[in-house]
Amino acid sequence: MNKIEVIVADPATVDSGALVVGITEGAAPDAGLDKALDGALSALVESGDLRGKAEQVRVYYPRDEVAAQRIVLVGLGKADEVTLEQVRRSVAAAARRCRTLNAADLAVATTTFPVPESTTADIAQAITEGILLGLYRFTEFKEIPADEATEVTDARLVTGSENEASTAEGARLGQIFARATMWARDLGNRPGNSVTPRVLAEAAQSMATDFGLQCRVLEEADMKELGMGALLGVAQGSDEPAKFIILEYTPSQSDAETVVLVGKGITFDSGGISIKPSQNMGDMKFDMCGAAAVLATMRALPHLKPPVRVIGLVPATENLPGGRAYKPGDIVKAMNGTTIEVVNTDAEGRLILADALAYAARYEPKAVIDLATLTGGCVVALGDEASGLFGNDDQLIERVRRAGEESGDRTWPLPLWPPYKKKIESKVADIKNSAGRWASAITAAAFLSRFTESYSWTHLDIAGTAYTSNDQNGSNPYAAQGATGVGVRLLLRFLREGESKAS
Ligand code: BES
Ligand code: MN
Ligand code: ZN
Repeated sequence: MNKIEVIVADPATVDSGALVVGITEGAAPDAGLDKALDGALSALVESGDLRGKAEQVRVYYPRDEVAAQRIVLVGLGKADEVTLEQVRRSVAAAARRCRTLNAADLAVATTTFPVPESTTADIAQAITEGILLGLYRFTEFKEIPADEATEVTDARLVTGSENEASTAEGARLGQIFARATMWARDLGNRPGNSVTPRVLAEAAQSMATDFGLQCRVLEEADMKELGMGALLGVAQGSDEPAKFIILEYTPSQSDAETVVLVGKGITFDSGGISIKPSQNMGDMKFDMCGAAAVLATMRALPHLKPPVRVIGLVPATENLPGGRAYKPGDIVKAMNGTTIEVVNTDAEGRLILADALAYAARYEPKAVIDLATLTGGCVVALGDEASGLFGNDDQLIERVRRAGEESGDRTWPLPLWPPYKKKIESKVADIKNSAGRWASAITAAAFLSRFTESYSWTHLDIAGTAYTSNDQNGSNPYAAQGATGVGVRLLLRFLREGESKAS
């Protein structure tokens, strides 16, 4: 997709391959368009063919009544219940249909996407995200077959002059948010032999150069010096050297608060000596989606310029059962001095995060947010509609939850009560890295909480939301099969708003 433009016009007069129009249940279709089409829309509603059910798409081929070649009508559900997330999903469904129809460009009649209690800018942003994310596909290793190759290369948001400025601002933000999300998807979708810890580090370094971030990559010798025994323990089983990526965005304000983002960067998780079953093991190439979200967020910050200092930390390694691999029963020591009994080498994410979270303390951060494909238990609990949300500061948890709600990266809180923290106590070390199956998402977060005691912290378990097979009823139309880029839009929304509400 080229640039998304905003134009002021009567939708009926816009010459395009497809004019996308929202239809709600229980409200009449857009009067101006209906009139321009000689009452065709209300006739479609009366016939029962056009019901406005959420994401239902209907195509109408006008003759010369309007300038567009096709009218792509998409349902939004009940008029008084439409949300920004519904707009994203419906617009994505419509944009995908435009592509299968061979429309090379589309125009969206933005005023036909009303969302109660939302601003014009937020709606325009949601529409923009729906278009870009809906049309995303991962093509690095396979060309799209010729008969599916038509790309929608241009999109225009059509609005009235009174809303031009706010629509343009929404389209600008939507493009930044969506392009960052797609960058995270590309990184997540690349297989383990394409994205190694070294490649992640190189990607971080080259984007830092391109966009004016600071970047440092710690090598294993540095990690040893810092005492990162947990990360190094996991890395032992692989011939690929671990990397510890540090990115920094500095705002122009000199008194800005610091937020640290931490992303789990396991570029492939075999389970190690506690090896995983082979079925679906290939999905464990997605075990660096937390890292991808953090890198993509950092990459977008120079465009957004939030007045907050942001540090991105990515501990990156493979988890493999090589001859020198760490073993069940081993005891490793994290950077903060905590000793950890390794009862399961497949609970490796919390080990590499332990050292990264301990490292984060040196920034005396106002807040730390980590994202990790951490537990199968979280997938069982919440599926693909929400990430697990944990933390040690209720206000921060609430702010993250709200950023998730508004951005479409939904989260849902789970408890971290003291009895859960007891379950990771070990007889031979300070703590152990697994408390078994029950409540495993919670006990994993309880483990992390041992490394975050000096600052406000939230943890997002994105194991269920980071990638999708997109083959279920209710699958999200703006998430193609593969990595979703979850977390990027949440973090960007959080960082943009964060500063003023930081205390
Ligand atoms: N990367 C996995 C978690 C995961 C599972 C992500 C499914 C995405 C989909 C993590 O490293 C892991 O193996 N967790 C174990 C922990 C257990 C051994 C305590 C799990 O959840 O089974
Ligand atoms: Mn694992
Ligand atoms: Zn893992």
